[in-house]
Amino acid sequence: MNMPTYDFIVVGSGIAGLSYTVKVAQYFQDKQIPIKIALITKTVAEETNTKYAQGGIAAVWDQQDSFDKHIQDTLVAGDFESDPKVVELVVKEAPERLKELISYGTDFDRRSDGSFDLVKEGGHSDKRILHYKDSTGNEIERALLEKVKSFPSVDFFTHYFAVDLITQHHLGEKVTKDTPHKKCFGVYVLNKKTKKVETFIGKTTLLATGGIGQVYQSTTNPTIATGDGIAMAYRAKGFVKGMQYIQFHPTALYQPGKKPNFLISEAVRGHGGILKNLDGSTFMEKYDERLSLAPRDIVARAIDSEMKKNGTDHVYLDTRHIPKEEIIAHFPMIYHYCLDQLGIDMSQEMIPVVPCQHYLCGGIIVNEYSQTNIEHLYAAGECSHTGLHGANRLASNSLLEAIVYAHRAFEKSIGEFGTQTIPAGIPHWNDEGTRNPEEMVLVTEMTRELESIMSNYVGIVRTNRRLKRAYDRLELIYLEHEELYKQSKITVPLCELRNMINVAYLIIKHARAQRENKGLHYNLDLLNA
Ligand code: FAD
Ligand code: SIN
Repeated sequence: MNMPTYDFIVVGSGIAGLSYTVKVAQYFQDKQIPIKIALITKTVAEETNTKYAQGGIAAVWDQQDSFDKHIQDTLVAGDFESDPKVVELVVKEAPERLKELISYGTDFDRRSDGSFDLVKEGGHSDKRILHYKDSTGNEIERALLEKVKSFPSVDFFTHYFAVDLITQHHLGEKVTKDTPHKKCFGVYVLNKKTKKVETFIGKTTLLATGGIGQVYQSTTNPTIATGDGIAMAYRAKGFVKGMQYIQFHPTALYQPGKKPNFLISEAVRGHGGILKNLDGSTFMEKYDERLSLAPRDIVARAIDSEMKKNGTDHVYLDTRHIPKEEIIAHFPMIYHYCLDQLGIDMSQEMIPVVPCQHYLCGGIIVNEYSQTNIEHLYAAGECSHTGLHGANRLASNSLLEAIVYAHRAFEKSIGEFGTQTIPAGIPHWNDEGTRNPEEMVLVTEMTRELESIMSNYVGIVRTNRRLKRAYDRLELIYLEHEELYKQSKITVPLCELRNMINVAYLIIKHARAQRENKGLHYNLDLLNA
């Protein structure tokens, strides 16, 4: 089997991976330097968290708004755990990066005078969210995909599943977290059609593999969100941070048994939607003066507390006071989804909502140029930890972080072009002695157990006992899975479960190590600590 060598390998076709690819491809095309980029994605091109983004992307545009206000809002939402230098650079670079997205063909809603229709979301002190109706992510994904496909230097591999990073380990060297100059030489990738693992040699590799939502029973994230990049980097001795900060979105549509959960955008609360108990009473005034528009950690905990107190399994979002035409103009997808799926006309009836897993604030540690601690390995987007979000992400700062850090990865990695050497002797994937997996039912069952452990013991409200129980239960699944993995030819479900076990382990480990309640980490045993 041949071993193709690429100048750049990009794993992930969401906003981070695509915007990086566009920039690299454009740069070398303009310079007329021939290069090869492999863009790898595990299902169809557009199936990403990005595609489902609703509310929009934050940036300072309006005269009355200011960088200082956006910076302060980000720091407050993050419970002052963010890196102030990173917050400043992201906020200040935002308008430039957004102009680029627009130049690639992304459309954002405008008012009749041509200015952007800026809206507000939780934790923002001003209207600064650019959006395309209530399906901003889909519009961004569409424009970026169209642009990427125009470059002949990009080989697009859909239905290719990245399994493991190639490092010195594969050349027989012992690699630990303390090994200096750990290097990445590319990725082993499972071709889902042939079921063979192919070796992609890469001089520069970017992980842009997105979130981890599937480790929970309920999540707004699509099925691709199994934390593969984080697990791959961790296994290659990459550094990972902040995994205890799991963001639960306050208002997913209450549809028991449905996974992923449909999101009711925070922009609906930004437009006046009010949270209510089942008896129609408001409750946010008991928790925060910003009411339904407090940062997400506060609103999700308030809903959780009300549901526990009242013995209910959801609350309501009341939008009946907003004129129907306005609802349909601003939130057409949400309006039609509620009507078609649940028969609920949100201009007449309240929407049943419940908090559910939405976003990971932690991830692979990167510096201000998206570089990981492994040479030639970059990470951007939701799989990375830049220091922007601290203990809780401000609404609509995720798409923003992804484009800012994809740009920074681009700047650094084009500077590295031509300097990397690939050692001889990189082996092909070795699956000698393994056989086709016969016990797929075990994988399904272990996945179910893992989701249940994470939802029951590592959710919005934690305790030391719950976290220990989660750790002990997970260890059993880990041991069982390891045995199966060693004996089997790999499959996507087997690998995804392996990655989810790695990710769950990191979440629990970081949560147990946390000594203070901050943002999204809330442990009852730390209340009086
Ligand atoms: P993704 O867009 O998730 O892309 C990940 C890519 O990696 C996918 O192509 C996937 O197939 C690929 N991949 C993963 N593992 C592998 C593997 N092993 N092999 C090959 N390919 C792999 N943020 C905001 O700022 N504003 C919003 O309004 C907003 N709304 C949201 C609404 C919803 C419902 C959701 C789920 C999220 C929302 N977010 C929002 C968060 C934001 O959408 C994501 O954080 C962001 O899109 C992540 O982009 P990404 O490029 O890092 O990853
Ligand atoms: C939403 O539309 O509520 C999601 C926004 C985000 O996750 O930033």
